[in-house]
Amino acid sequence: MCGIIGRVGDGNALEPLLRGLENLEYRGYDSAGVAVQNGSGINVEKRSGKVEELKESIGEPLQGDVGIGHTRWSTHGPPTDANAHPHTDESEDVAVVHNGIVENYAELRERLAANGYAFTSDTDTEVIPHLVQYYLDAGFDSERAFRQAIDELEGSYAVTAMVSGEHVLYAARQGSPLVVGIEDGEYFLASDVPAFLEYTDNVVYLEDGDVVIVDEDGVEFTDLDGEPITRTTETVDWDPEQAGKGEYDHFMLKEITEQPTALAQAIEGRIDATSGRIGLSAFEPGSFEAIDSVQFVACGTSYHAALYGSLALNQAGVQATALLANEYSVAAPPVDETTLVIAVTQSGETADTLNALRQATAEGARTLTVTNVVGSTAAREADDALFIRAGPEIGVAATKTFSSQAVILTLLGQRIATDLRGEPSADLESLLPALESMPSRIHELLEHSNAEAIAEQYRDSQSYFFIGRGLGYPVALEGALKFKEITYEHAEGFAAGELKHGPLALVTPETPVFAIFTGQEDEKTLKNAEEARTRGAPVIAVCPDGHPAVEAADEHLAIPETDSDLAGLFANVQLQLLSYHAADLLDRPIDKPRNLAKSVTVE
Ligand code: F6R
Repeated sequence: MCGIIGRVGDGNALEPLLRGLENLEYRGYDSAGVAVQNGSGINVEKRSGKVEELKESIGEPLQGDVGIGHTRWSTHGPPTDANAHPHTDESEDVAVVHNGIVENYAELRERLAANGYAFTSDTDTEVIPHLVQYYLDAGFDSERAFRQAIDELEGSYAVTAMVSGEHVLYAARQGSPLVVGIEDGEYFLASDVPAFLEYTDNVVYLEDGDVVIVDEDGVEFTDLDGEPITRTTETVDWDPEQAGKGEYDHFMLKEITEQPTALAQAIEGRIDATSGRIGLSAFEPGSFEAIDSVQFVACGTSYHAALYGSLALNQAGVQATALLANEYSVAAPPVDETTLVIAVTQSGETADTLNALRQATAEGARTLTVTNVVGSTAAREADDALFIRAGPEIGVAATKTFSSQAVILTLLGQRIATDLRGEPSADLESLLPALESMPSRIHELLEHSNAEAIAEQYRDSQSYFFIGRGLGYPVALEGALKFKEITYEHAEGFAAGELKHGPLALVTPETPVFAIFTGQEDEKTLKNAEEARTRGAPVIAVCPDGHPAVEAADEHLAIPETDSDLAGLFANVQLQLLSYHAADLLDRPIDKPRNLAKSVTVE
């Protein structure tokens, strides 16, 4: 994990570096640091804690027009001041920030220590500045020393380094994301675009094996051997305002509220309710004809969206399974060229999901990535990519991207089913208009939600259970994940019919049960909810007004009447608000829950 940034240009680098780190904090926030230089050596400030704490501890502003910064999610060594990046060699001649894992660090450390290089941290990263210094000491120039050091690293890295007395940044990418931002006379390197979006929207996505040298005159793109390579500059259409918190206290609430816009963007130009056609420009009609089965691979919230997509495909008569990407290497069903493996990943950088995608590719499957991030590794490595267009999501808890993923997977599922069966599925006529009206109906739901009152009412409960059937099941899992992730309270999601096979033993008056009704066998779900209520559990029905569950339950979170393929997504928005308000009442750090990070680039 971790977020890195580098900046070269006129004026002091400190402010753009710190702003960049704030925008990258979703990648990790247990330590932060910067290093800048002004011609009289490298100045480093770093500490455990958030970027805010780093800012407060920088007394006399550091000066320098070139600098690097880092925000950390610990992998090797606890979050202490010493383990925070940037790391340097003993004499602070070389400073380095790194995202990834140096797998052969123990061996490199032993070799360098034997040569007299003294280490001060527990991190794998610290071998990099010492290794560069080792080659500088051997008489290499800075660029050659950097290349040589990079060549010796095994594992994954996005690295940016600087050498004392130079107005130059050296950077390399292997397995961890790294983008270049280009503006007149000002250049950035960062783990992700929001880091520098306030300064430029011209970006170059680096590829594995790329090495770049950046100074005030421009960027030199090369391979590891120094051979020039061509990389294309793209203009991103993310608005910096979009990446800020605006009037909201938390990114999470902002992003929940953005769902009408996100969904409108997701479906724009992709459905035509009049002709009943789904247009996914990357896929001409018939392009899935050779597919026999679909496997989804994903983690966390994206896995819940994948499960949603796989159930929708099953219902449309297509063989599909959702698999946890981190289990794929030990439990993948066989694949061949008739298998479509779909990686679902908001960031496009999740290591577990990338591994599963690579395994599927190696075994001959056709691959497709569904992601929010154009230029992400998963988007580039799969045969095809489909973008959910949700806009930047900064809150660590995924919200709008889940809804957009589920909607895109629903559309994609219908396209695949149409190709395989020669005609659209029977319910397309009701599904497409329901999809088109979804943004405005979610807007209405957000305006009238009573989720805050329900959160208050049940705030002192012992555990929180979420149950659903069919497409309500992934929503129950997602409701529970969101709740535990940001409130730190115990929450579990179950298939409604499973409650009686064990979890019912946990049910007491202190365990509210949120029952999701999507119109698929609701009478059975209602019976399951009643089984919990009979044992004293308060039941909160998530269903339309006038539904029989409203009378049978203690409380009600309302969703509109809609196509059963989409009802669960409305229920999910109510549950997002429930979690948000419950966490707010408990005064939790909603956007940065403890121990978590948004982009999980380690296995
Ligand atoms: C939970 C959450 C995580 C991510 C998971 C996969 O709110 O956001 O569970 O869904 O880490 O991340 P991506 O989608 O980037 O692959």
